[in-house]
Amino acid sequence: MASPIALPRIMRIGGGAVAEIGEVVTGLGLTRPLVVTDSFLVGTGAAEQMIKTLESAGLSPRLFADTVPDPTTDSLDAGVAAIAEHDCDSVIGFGGGSPMDTAKALGILGRQGGQMRDYKAPRNNVGPALPVIAVPTTAGSGSETTQFTVITDSASNEKMLCPGLAFLPIAAVIDYELTVSMPPRLTADTGVDALTHAIEAYVSKKANPFADSLALVAIGTIGRVLRRAYTDGSDAEAREQMMLAATQAGIAFSNSSVALVHGMSRPIGAHFHVAHGLSNAMLFPAVTAFSVRAAESRYADCARALGVATTGDDDATAADNLVDALRELCRDVAVPTPKAYGIDNARWDELIPLMAEQALASGSPNNNPLVPTDAEIRDLYAQIYG
Ligand SMILES: [Fe+2]
Repeated sequence: MASPIALPRIMRIGGGAVAEIGEVVTGLGLTRPLVVTDSFLVGTGAAEQMIKTLESAGLSPRLFADTVPDPTTDSLDAGVAAIAEHDCDSVIGFGGGSPMDTAKALGILGRQGGQMRDYKAPRNNVGPALPVIAVPTTAGSGSETTQFTVITDSASNEKMLCPGLAFLPIAAVIDYELTVSMPPRLTADTGVDALTHAIEAYVSKKANPFADSLALVAIGTIGRVLRRAYTDGSDAEAREQMMLAATQAGIAFSNSSVALVHGMSRPIGAHFHVAHGLSNAMLFPAVTAFSVRAAESRYADCARALGVATTGDDDATAADNLVDALRELCRDVAVPTPKAYGIDNARWDELIPLMAEQALASGSPNNNPLVPTDAEIRDLYAQIYG
């Protein structure tokens, strides 16, 4: 069976690339972008610089800086209004996963209207949307190259996975220099997210040779440099390699899928406001231990790519080494259990049934090498609490 592969039309990758954003937008025949960012990038002056760069290229941008972490449906209304008021023909997502995902949601709402819950999985959104140009400032989400956005329903607290080519950016400007100021916690959380994308893409039931190649390269790079970027944020080489790996991992999972870690991670983020990469990290070793026996050779390939097993190790040993390596990585970058994070035990237990239901409803667990039952998901949530 042929693999359906989809990529941004244009990618500019490398230090200083953000200075070329005007040329990228102009080259697409676009003139009136809405720049979607957050208050942090307004505070650093980066948002103002982005607007100036666009204006000096002869464009008429409008700034929208009211995105929120883990974007909600309520947070989109002002952005939709801004698109209409300014008669925007495109959206620039500038920031981490949250501004980029907000930009993608605004791209479809600005063109088709309706409510974001109309677009959630299993609906496949191929309809028209304003073109999105993504400019990541973290090395993790991969959102700049993926055909997904994740928006939390303000009414139900559900983190909705919304898939389809309507959400794939037309262009991505990938400049690692924007990530150098990330603090260690954010570096770790986003970096572990990227590693999760790569490993889940590779072991997914939707894996294919194109996605595999990028996933394995990303796993190797992240294994070599994530700790360096975490311990010394000014290590430019580590930052550059992490940025490329995050993008490769993004392309890999966009053209394969994520699996059980992400399926279970979204409800934790939604109900307990844990950063996405961190909730992945809380689950990653336990979910991998649950899954490895169902696809030993695939997990073994990941272990070898990560550098924690050799071709001399049999697959079972290599797969076990991967689980150990993930535990070690989480320890090295100080990933807390939900308990240590401060989540109330009774509230956690109370929400387990709903979290399990929402995890299954997202469809991601169906791509896992071992498809869990509702009871097994509940058990995993109980197991990782701490
Ligand atoms: Fe992710």
